[in-house]
Amino acid sequence: MANGKVQIANVVHEPRTPNPEPQNRQSAIANRQSPTSEFAPGIDVTIAGVRFQNPVLTASGTFGYGQEFANIIDLNRLGGICVKGISADPMPGNPPPRIYETESGMLNAIGLQNVGAKRFLQEKLPFLRTLKARCVVNVFGYSTEDYVRCLETLNTGDGIDAYELNISCPNTRCGGIVYGSDPKLTEEVVTASKRAARFPLFVKLSPNVTDITVFARAAQEGGADALTLVNTFVGMAIDVETRTPRISNVTAGLSGPAIKPLALRLVHQAARAVHIPIIGIGGIASPEDALEFLIAGACAVQVGTANFYAPDTPIRVAEGIEDYCRRQRIHLDQLVGSLKLPLSDPSRVAEH
Ligand SMILES: Cc1cc2nc3c(=O)[nH]c(=O)nc-3n(C[C@H](O)[C@H](O)[C@H](O)COP(=O)(O)O)c2cc1C
Repeated sequence: MANGKVQIANVVHEPRTPNPEPQNRQSAIANRQSPTSEFAPGIDVTIAGVRFQNPVLTASGTFGYGQEFANIIDLNRLGGICVKGISADPMPGNPPPRIYETESGMLNAIGLQNVGAKRFLQEKLPFLRTLKARCVVNVFGYSTEDYVRCLETLNTGDGIDAYELNISCPNTRCGGIVYGSDPKLTEEVVTASKRAARFPLFVKLSPNVTDITVFARAAQEGGADALTLVNTFVGMAIDVETRTPRISNVTAGLSGPAIKPLALRLVHQAARAVHIPIIGIGGIASPEDALEFLIAGACAVQVGTANFYAPDTPIRVAEGIEDYCRRQRIHLDQLVGSLKLPLSDPSRVAEH
């Protein structure tokens, strides 16, 4: 506890009223739990100095630049909006077909189409900075210089709260090796980006690796302020009539409910490997899904694919987390990482 705030690693939860002094913490909890009082759980979370009014953000690439949803849901009820990946220069993306629905999921190879950093600042940021929801800008590049150039342009933006580095991109100067699949490249791009970034840096890890803890530690070593887990899993689908790939790019990223148990396992492992905060993502479509990630150790979550068929999902998820905390008479910080593991932790042993 520091300055009356509860701190879990780099995550600070604002004190509620009455403000529990360190020595009064136990009695403050007891008071809050009095059966006669209306319990008001605190579900705000502060990550690397950025306060989110609730722990639910929209995921990059599934919510445009936010404004597209302004007439559909109340954007001011979101914890944060993570915008479509931005590169130093505009990108046209891949040719269609670039989306295909699978059982309980979706394949996409959009190709990181975006307006580029300069147009983002001119055309998209002015709207985003009017919102209560925090603005997290997802950044990518095909060389370390690209990432740095993009961040240097974005640094002049008024209204950006944090960056999220997408490292699931091939480094064209290193024979196309994906940054997030090589620990050295991960650390290199995070170190250079952290040096360049004017705002806190969240690093979004690729799930397409053998041991996520190696990459979580490499990003932490490079200076990441927080980690986002996970990006999409590489997959593919084939049209058996034409015997052609369903997606023009042949392979594509799998997202949606199909990946939730996989993503949850990765969050669970990463949360025990690093001391920086973790934002959980992968197949979240209900409050229960989000609660699983929070209990596994994520201090916030993102909703992605669900936005395509139910754009009110992030708001429903935030409401559901609050209801759960009210019922359990706990604050968010008491929920995060509260997984009760068996004494002999079987997750260390093979599952079959
Ligand atoms: C259509 C689409 C576009 C995406 N674009 C990006 C992107 O630009 N940058 C990024 O880091 N992740 C991107 N993602 C990955 C999502 O942010 C998220 O990590 C992934 O979809 C898993 O979450 P979900 O199962 O809730 O969708 C995209 C996902 C989809 C479905």
